[in-house]
Formats: sequence, C-alpha cells, structure tokens
Amino acid sequence: MIVIAHLSDPHLDGTAVARDRLRRITAYLEAFRTPVDVVLVSGDLADHGDPAEYAELAAELPTDLPVLVLPGNHDVTGPLRNGLASYLDSPGDGHPIHQVRDVAGARFVLLDTSVPGEDYGFLSDDSLAWLSRVLAEPFDGPIFVAMHHPPLDLHHPVMDQWPLRAQEPLAAVLTGKPITAILTGHVHNAVVTSFAGHPVLGAPGIRSTVPLPFEPPTAEGSPIDAEAYPGLALHIHYPGEPLQTFYRFP
Ligand SMILES: [Fe+2]
Ligand SMILES: [Fe+2]
Repeated sequence: MIVIAHLSDPHLDGTAVARDRLRRITAYLEAFRTPVDVVLVSGDLADHGDPAEYAELAAELPTDLPVLVLPGNHDVTGPLRNGLASYLDSPGDGHPIHQVRDVAGARFVLLDTSVPGEDYGFLSDDSLAWLSRVLAEPFDGPIFVAMHHPPLDLHHPVMDQWPLRAQEPLAAVLTGKPITAILTGHVHNAVVTSFAGHPVLGAPGIRSTVPLPFEPPTAEGSPIDAEAYPGLALHIHYPGEPLQTFYRFP
C-alpha cells in the first residue's frame, strides 16, 4: 500500500492566516498513526514567489516524511530553486523545474506548467518531448503525473481564467500511457474528472476555495471563499487495484 498526501496551493505570504491554514493540514498529517509514504504539494507554494515565503514553507513542511513540490503560477523559479533546493531534483538553475522522483515504489513525474510572469499554464514542445521520453521508460509500479494547472477546462468563470494552454498536444503524449492518475492543483477545489483516458484528481486549495457559480454566495460576495476548511487528498494505491482517493478537511 502506498499513501500519498496531496496538498496544494498553500500560498504562504508571511501572514498568520495562510500559515495557520497550512498548519491545520501538517498537524493532521503528523498525528497519523502510520505516516503517509509521501507528501506532494502541487504548486502555488508561495503567494508572491519571495525568498522569505519559501523559507517559511521549508520551516512548515514535515521534516520526517518525503516531500515533493512543484511550481504553480504564483511561484518564481529562482527563489523556489534556492529556497526549496533540498526538496528538488531537477537539473540546471532555470525554468522549467521538471522532475522524475521514485518514492515508496511509485514514480512521480512532476511537471512545471508555469510560465514566468503569467498565470496561465503551458508545456512547451521541449517539455512534452521530455515527458514523452520519461513515460516511455519501463517502471514497475504506479506512475503519477503531477502538475499545477489541470489539463482541461472546468467551465467555471473564475477557475478557467488561467487554464493550461495547448491541451491537445499533452493529451497526445498521455493517451495510452501507463499512468495511474494525473494529480493537480490551481483551481482551489477538490475535483475529480478525466483527461486523455486517465483520472484527474485535484487537491483542495489550502489557502482558499473557489465555489461553483450556482453554489450559495460567500458572505462577502467574493468569488473566493477564504473561510472554507483547508483540505487535502489521500491517494491510496494497493498493488493491482484501482487507485482510491479520500478527501479530508481537518
Ligand atoms: Fe492557487
Ligand atoms: Fe495557481
């Protein structure tokens, strides 16, 4: 059994509000009777990409668990690479920060869908070629492709403002590959859908939640609900069985 704690979008910004919301999740994980096998944080780690925000995150992440991180649109390559160097395994010192990480018998292909200075997501031809090469390598175990931007539109006026562009070429690379699931963030919602024949499992936004247009309005009339409970996904893989995902809002 492999248990993945999938966190997303802590948006640390030096405020107690953001820090305390992440601490609700990390304190919950640290109280587990059996530790999870790996923690994945799928982007928007920092709110402004400042070095101090990455130092803050490094101080808040669990120290006794394997932790994987990947960039979101709020992250900035240089400060992220410097501040979270011990969490990364990605050659070079520039953009993008793609990684292949084997942890607890699972392979995590961590894609950097960020575009410097932009909020939409994009994977270049070079990135897609890299992904294609990685997925062609044999691996005896579950393979997860993780990325900040979901690879499909959610038909939501807020969440779809900054989508992943060029979705069709990504679909062409992923179709038919032995992928257990695509793990995403960015839209600040626990969302389950599919893309290119694979499950897409989105983690809730730790910093906030974006309600659907037909849900009750927030107290302030904002499209962002900053009061909704922070949450996470627990992806549980048993050999030879379909992946199971449990969502928690501790
Ligand atoms: Fe975010
Ligand atoms: Fe984002």
